[in-house]
Amino acid sequence: MPVAAAVALWHRAHLYKALACVVLALIALQYLLSGVLDRRSIETIFTINTTRYADHAYRSHPHGLIIYGLGVSPTYPPSTLNITSTAQLTVPALRDINNATKQDVNATRIAPVSSPNTTDPSIPQLCPLIPPNLVGPLTVNKNPPEVLKMEKELTGVETGGRGWPSHCTPRHRVAIIIPFRDRPQHLQTLLYNLHPMLLRQQISYQIFIVEQEGTGLFNRAMLMNVGYVEALKEQKFDCFIFHDVDLLPEDDRNLYTCPEQPRHMSVAIDKFKYRLPYTDLFGGVSAMSREQFRLVNGFSNVFWGWGGEDDDMANRIKSQNLHISRYPANIARYKMLLHKREKANPRRYEVLKTGKNRFPTDGLTDLKYQLIEKKKPKLYTWLLVRLTPPQPS
Ligand code: BGC
Ligand code: MN
Repeated sequence: MPVAAAVALWHRAHLYKALACVVLALIALQYLLSGVLDRRSIETIFTINTTRYADHAYRSHPHGLIIYGLGVSPTYPPSTLNITSTAQLTVPALRDINNATKQDVNATRIAPVSSPNTTDPSIPQLCPLIPPNLVGPLTVNKNPPEVLKMEKELTGVETGGRGWPSHCTPRHRVAIIIPFRDRPQHLQTLLYNLHPMLLRQQISYQIFIVEQEGTGLFNRAMLMNVGYVEALKEQKFDCFIFHDVDLLPEDDRNLYTCPEQPRHMSVAIDKFKYRLPYTDLFGGVSAMSREQFRLVNGFSNVFWGWGGEDDDMANRIKSQNLHISRYPANIARYKMLLHKREKANPRRYEVLKTGKNRFPTDGLTDLKYQLIEKKKPKLYTWLLVRLTPPQPS
């Protein structure tokens, strides 16, 4: 080999060694900084900007799994949550999640759970930020026992479908609002699955079934407005979960609480192959605080028949500079009970288009209904209502 070629080879070998050193140094640096980066990023993940969330997590990952991790994409935050299979994100991981939401951070500041209650021993401590008895993924039971047996079995539930933790002061007062008509079997199944989960979540809650009287077109949005107004007559709830009767939660880490931003809870539904159909979806199960709901003037009252009312709510949320937040798809999972397809409202897109002009006048402000009957069996508070269509102004 000529001398010049040998020298060139020797130089190249050194160049490779130098490059290898630089790469190793960068890996070491990333490792050292990962603690700092992770802490900063966790919150970003759980107050996710929906565009980023859906576009990235759903479209680019065929199995609907969310892979946020160093190296996945330079535009997404690094995180300790390198979720590669649904089995990997265990309950302790939720600890990180919630420790990082601003609402909970604030709650910690107001009343640190760890500090001893020195003033009055009769007042129990605030419940822990993360309920200690969560189990994670749940086996959904689609065959509930008959009502009497169910009532006996669900010992922690009190008249009117209320529940609260027995040994600590709950951090959240939550009204679960279920618009309803003609689906007794679905309701029974939902209650059978929901109550035990809510009790484990250590929230104070009450389940309201708002049933529309008659056989006219169903108005899901208006029933939810009624639920909000009627629930507040009972108690000053600070959080409202609007819940379809046919959706069964599959993971108790999907906390029925209200974070800083409105939260879409039913991210991944079996019927949609566990993928979010579109970024701004706010239907199924969603959570809003009392103030957020008042701020957007509740739901629109003009969506009769299936569809559109949740899209209108998504627009209301945006118009107030709020945004939809979501838990990751492997936690916010639901099974949908089978039912025949509802007839969609053919005018819904048209109504949706002009929705913005109506936000201040169409909603809680012009809600009209008659409360026909109210009952409190053990497992829920039942309201039968006659809806009055809003009058054109
Ligand atoms: C409707 C929504 C519905 C969504 C998912 C949309 O076309 O407007 O109301 O939640 O589909 O089914
Ligand atoms: Mn449905």
